[in-house]
Amino acid sequence: MYDAAPPPSHYEHVVAVNKTRGENPYKQRVLTKIKQLDGWCSDYKAATLMDLVWFIQPKVVVEIGVFGGKSLVPMGFALKQLGGGMAYGIDPWSAAASEEGSDGVNKTWWGSLDYGAILSKLRGKITEFGLDKYITLVQATSADAAPISNIDILHIDGNHANDVSYYDVLKWVPLVRRGGLIVFDDITWSTIEKAPKWLDENCVRVISMKDIENEWAVWVKP
Ligand SMILES: C[S@@+](CC[C@H](N)C(=O)[O-])C[C@H]1O[C@@H](n2cnc3c(N)ncnc32)[C@H](O)[C@@H]1O
Repeated sequence: MYDAAPPPSHYEHVVAVNKTRGENPYKQRVLTKIKQLDGWCSDYKAATLMDLVWFIQPKVVVEIGVFGGKSLVPMGFALKQLGGGMAYGIDPWSAAASEEGSDGVNKTWWGSLDYGAILSKLRGKITEFGLDKYITLVQATSADAAPISNIDILHIDGNHANDVSYYDVLKWVPLVRRGGLIVFDDITWSTIEKAPKWLDENCVRVISMKDIENEWAVWVKP
């Protein structure tokens, strides 16, 4: 980058050569690997989810809405680097659940997917990436899944209908431990209103983010 001009003692030159400017080789390798997965999580969001895991050092991570694992797998990789913890991914991988509350082109699109193939590919990648000890997939709707208590990090990115996403918050946020984090995706979607409003009224919003794929926020459970 700065190869030609500045002398070696120049701060920027040293920084560029030593690659100490916030670059994390493990994170970079994970971001390359998740390109093999289906989903919508941007690199920026995946990197932030990994940072949150490294910061909180959770025993229990729960994600509602997994699809091809693009947001769950980076959290699993972060747990693997820590050497402990479990990320539970809850998703029915079913057309009927995805169609609930949607209409028009959205309903057609969600109804036409091969959910068996998406789940089977994800299972294969979790094993290929050596993450079986850190990720548990639960094939159930958010409503049908057994409650998991003492959640350290909860990521909600399931069905985007107003009532279903509101239900996700009402069922799962009480299971987050005090001081735990709640990440909620697509906060400004027209179909999602009640869930972020409830979170703002009952938890403390600490981060709001907007990037190419996602507009999301993080709350702390008081
Ligand atoms: C937007 S995608 C998740 C994307 C993923 N988190 C990512 O970042 O790539 C939404 C997922 O929610 C799942 N879903 C639909 N209804 C659900 C429900 N009632 N409970 C849990 N997951 C649900 C769908 O099967 C779909 O995989």
